[in-house]
Order: sequence, then structure tokens, then C-alpha cells
Amino acid sequence: MHEVAANGARIPAIGLGTWTLKDDQCSDLVSHALAVGYRHVDTAKMYDNEAAVGAGIKASSVPRDDIFLTTKVWWTDLAPADLERSTEGSLKRLGLDHVDLLLIHWPNARIPLEGTIKALNRMRERGLTRHIGVANFPTRLLGEAIALSDAPLVANQVEYHPYLDQTKVHAACRAAGMAMVSYCPLYRGGGLLEEEAIRSAASRLGKTPGQVVLRWHVQQEGVVAIPRTTRKERLVENAAIFDFQLSDAEMTEINALTKANSRICEHDFSPGEGWD
Ligand SMILES: NC(=O)c1ccc[n+]([C@@H]2O[C@H](COP(=O)([O-])OP(=O)(O)OC[C@H]3O[C@@H](n4cnc5c(N)ncnc54)[C@H](OP(=O)(O)O)[C@@H]3O)[C@@H](O)[C@H]2O)c1
Repeated sequence: MHEVAANGARIPAIGLGTWTLKDDQCSDLVSHALAVGYRHVDTAKMYDNEAAVGAGIKASSVPRDDIFLTTKVWWTDLAPADLERSTEGSLKRLGLDHVDLLLIHWPNARIPLEGTIKALNRMRERGLTRHIGVANFPTRLLGEAIALSDAPLVANQVEYHPYLDQTKVHAACRAAGMAMVSYCPLYRGGGLLEEEAIRSAASRLGKTPGQVVLRWHVQQEGVVAIPRTTRKERLVENAAIFDFQLSDAEMTEINALTKANSRICEHDFSPGEGWD
């Protein structure tokens, strides 16, 4: 599996997203994904599936050290003592003594960032996570988080797909040596995969539209994608994107699909006006 180097972390360029996956279906997909070559799994306390993800890892024959596992602390749990409790709870549910990456799931303007970042660093110092990072941080907040952190942040996980321009966040991540991890990389399978630029590249290359979009992600420097699927055959499809390349013209054509108001994940607690 191809990896992205990010401030000392080596992050497999394709990971399995697990939002909505639950119980046995989740465990089964995680262990199947590992069996077919995935080495990166993304979960969160909020997904309510950490126990199932942990069971899937345990059921697989892939050694724990070969797997890059991410979990996240929900935005209401960012006061230092809450962050600590949340992390310990995640590890208990996962049945593991550490994760590889611990992320702040969303920023929270009502909780001072300094205490949160210090607490995140403490989780790393205590060995509960190998690396730390953030998610859904616009560039201004990302700059503050980087400045406050003793250990380097290794990733900013953000919504990214060809409809959503993330040029500024991507540049900020690269400038800081961080990976940008794309969530909703397939636009949740919506109309994006019907776009002519994607369909025509897929038929030229003998690939599926999903593979073209995922290749578009990982062909950009420092970008990692974490597609989710409930179908075993798609696990294989979504990881089989390292034996072909998109041409510069194909990349440009797909970049041109950017359009306004294409963000899927907007909540009442999102940065809103603060997005780049
Ligand atoms: N940090 C955050 O705030 C945040 C927010 C959202 C998501 N995430 C993470 O990012 C992961 C991915 O995002 P997501 O799950 O929202 O969306 P996504 O991965 O863009 O899309 C998942 C959808 O695409 C379909 N799909 C998967 N592979 C396909 C393919 N090759 N061709 C056509 N359709 C395909 C799946 O359907 P089938 O099941 O039928 O295959 C599923 O409905 C999440 O699972 C989660 O781990 C993080």
C-alpha cells in the first residue's frame, strides 16, 4: 500500500472509512479490508462502532503494528479532562492500548484551543496515540493549532472531492509537512460519479468512476483518501488505484468540476463563515 509521509507518520494513502458501519457488518468489513490489503482504518467515538472496529482488527491475521488506526474526539469533549476521558474510552472500546492517530473531530470555538492541544499532546506523551492531528480545521485555526502544539500535527482530515475546492487547506497542510486526509472522497457516491470528465477518463483507462476519483485524490501531493463502502467487492475496487495514472489533462478536467455550495458536512457547530 502506498504511503504518505507526514511529520514522522507514514499514512497509507487509502484507508477504510467506517462512518455508519455497525456491529458484525463493521467487524466483518474491517477484517475483510485488512485481508485484501488495507492497512488504514478510520473510526471515531461519534461513529459508535469502535468496539466493532477493534473486533475486526482482532479477527484479522494482520499484525497490529502493520495497521494505521485513527480515532477522533468529539467537539463537545475538547476540555482537557474530557479529551483524556474520551481517548481512554475509545481505547477501551477498541480493546487496544494505542491508536496511530488521534484527531480533534471538529473545532469548538467555546473551548480554548490551547488546553485542547496540550491535552492532545499529553495523549501522545502517554503513548495512547502515536500521532496527533485535527479534522475540519480551516487554515486560520490550523495555523493556531500548529503553533500551540509541541509535537508536530500530522494530518488535517477535511471534506474533499472534485466539487469542493480545498486549495488553501491543501497548501497549508503541505507547508506544515502534514497530510490532508480526504473524507467524503467519493461525494458519498452521488452525481459526481456520473460527471462526463470522470466517466470518460474511466472508459479511456478501463477503470471505474470511483477508481478515477480516488486516483485523483492520491495523485495530489500529501493527499490520503478514506472511502467507505458496505460492499466487499468495492473494498478491492477502491484500493486498486496504484497501477494507473491520470494525465495532467485529466487532472485539470476533474479539478474544473469545482462548484459553490458543494460541502456535504455542514452542521450548526461547523466553522461556517470561517471556512476557507
Ligand atoms: N472528520 C469528519 O468530520 C468526517 C465526516 C464524514 C466522514 N468522515 C470519514 O470519511 C469516511 C468517508 O466518507 P463518507 O463515508 O461520508 O463518504 P464516501 O466515502 O465519499 O462515500 C461512501 C458512499 O459511496 C459509495 N461507494 C463506495 N465506493 C464506491 C464506488 N467505488 N463506486 C460507487 N459508489 C461507491 C458507498 O456505497 P456502498 O456502501 O453501497 O458501496 C457509500 O454510500 C467516513 O466513513 C468517515 O470514516 C469523516
